Amino acid sequence: MFITLEGPDGSGKSMQIGGLAEFIRSQGYEVITTREPGGTAIGDQIREVIMRMDNKAMHPRTEILLFCAARAQIVSEVIKPNLEKGVVVLSDRYADSTLAYQGYGHRIDLDILRRILAFVTDGLTPDLTLLLDVDVEKGLSRRHSSGGEWNRLDDYELAFHQRVRNGYLELAAADPKRWKVIDAGNSPQQVQLALQEAVRTILKPKPRG
Ligand code: TMP
Repeated sequence: MFITLEGPDGSGKSMQIGGLAEFIRSQGYEVITTREPGGTAIGDQIREVIMRMDNKAMHPRTEILLFCAARAQIVSEVIKPNLEKGVVVLSDRYADSTLAYQGYGHRIDLDILRRILAFVTDGLTPDLTLLLDVDVEKGLSRRHSSGGEWNRLDDYELAFHQRVRNGYLELAAADPKRWKVIDAGNSPQQVQLALQEAVRTILKPKPRG
């Protein structure tokens, strides 16, 4: 089972993923968590290049290919082998981040991106995608005040982040079977419970023994 967490910056994915993995484990499943970009030795090096504040000259097409290079690596090195062993894979971001940020955010043609993504992921689509939806200004101010890593991509203007949020909502509305929208403006405890509720719909507790 492949589950992805998506959302605009500051939506709290990274804070929630550990608790959700713990919940899945408590249902009797083996689970691993991954994050993009990164999650492999090669992917972490690519992440460095993407995030560096002094790489301001990076063209959106370059950025896409770097995200996709890191993704191709994690799909083949980590995600697919674990899914084949029956392990639940829970990923902090995946291909939908490219559609939301590069497609809706940077206005790169969505059909071209979908074709690139099909190649990069070898056709692997999540079984469930949890969208942590949050007001853009609230999300960005959370990131500022939490003292978390501030990277080049956080520095884009507000309108960019607004397009990303709307893009996510559009993707979710177009495929409600795969997507579940969670109100990430609620308290962290409420958000965690909503995430668990959504996962429960596709993962029944395993009988022990
Ligand atoms: P995060 O580790 O805080 O989620 O930051 C990753 C940043 O990279 C975030 O701003 C979203 C962005 N991103 C893209 O623009 N495209 C992608 O394909 C991925 C995976 C992330």
